[in-house]
Amino acid sequence: MKVVIIGAGVAGLAIGWRLLQAGAAVTILDRGQPAQGATWAAAGMLAVTAELEEAGEAESAFALHSNTLWPGFAAEIEQVSGVGIGFVRGGALLLAGNAGELEAMRSRGTVLDGAGARALVPMLADDVAGGLWAADEARVDNRALGEVLTIAFLKAGGILIPQEAVVTIEERGGTACVMTPYGRHYADAFVIAAGAWSGLLANIPITPVKGEIIALMPPANQPLPGPVIWGNGVYLVPRDHEGEKRLLVGATMREAGFDTSLSPQERERLRAAAQCLIPSLKHWTLSDHWAGLRPKSPDGLPLLGLLRGNIFVAGGQFRNGILLAPAIAQLMADIVLGKTKTIPAFDPRRFG
Ligand code: GLY
Repeated sequence: MKVVIIGAGVAGLAIGWRLLQAGAAVTILDRGQPAQGATWAAAGMLAVTAELEEAGEAESAFALHSNTLWPGFAAEIEQVSGVGIGFVRGGALLLAGNAGELEAMRSRGTVLDGAGARALVPMLADDVAGGLWAADEARVDNRALGEVLTIAFLKAGGILIPQEAVVTIEERGGTACVMTPYGRHYADAFVIAAGAWSGLLANIPITPVKGEIIALMPPANQPLPGPVIWGNGVYLVPRDHEGEKRLLVGATMREAGFDTSLSPQERERLRAAAQCLIPSLKHWTLSDHWAGLRPKSPDGLPLLGLLRGNIFVAGGQFRNGILLAPAIAQLMADIVLGKTKTIPAFDPRRFG
């Protein structure tokens, strides 16, 4: 079976890798370089508690399943590539804004009071009320993940064609072929996994949601916080891998088309919000500021499965593209190979 995947982000690469392992011939086309879109811009959190507070049953179950796949997935790609991806199950502390919020958190799991939260993260502000401790949250160096998945995909015999944007998908009699500025690609199956750009292909209802993130570098000998921290409208993700020692502070949410320009106001807002949680951050150096585009569907749920004819889609991961990657890879490979059907809540045809 020959499969062409459109998009070499974490989803496209992981699906392609699983399909290669199952014996398919896989080519990935990317409009730019591999793993340079949302995969690069993300903060690398596997926020199975923090991001899923309002999630429905199907989304929660799928995210929890992916979270359990993550350690094996990380070990497997690290072993194939010989390169680490900084997978750390370091937990997450979801700070309460006040005593009432803390009380409400008790129904969700283990709660720490202010002293308990500061015992875990001594640099927290004195007035922190406490928070929910989510021990099963993890994080990964998403930029390393992109590189390592690319290596794994190529080592397994995949063909990767960068700088080849799909212009149109031609559909005739239930089969498709894709056109790029350089020619046509034919395949038994096409998988659209182009992140926020998926919405430009085949009338898929996916739109970009911009997120800006800043990175702060600690003064010499100052440690990073141990867990991921959420509070005051921001998240703080420690990134301590391959010589990088920074705290990522994110992220904004803005529907502004494909605009990825950086806003000094948002940069300062992120920094100020983070400093309310950890006052000593005012002494840390701002070392970077970037933006990426999350792919969002109208109901906020992913689109995973057959769209029509021989066109499949793996999109709409919204805020959870890194977390969901192992489960999406397995599910989509099985769907494309005809071994399973999609999860109804994620059926790409639900929008008509
Ligand atoms: N999951 C983090 C974000 O979307 O900003």
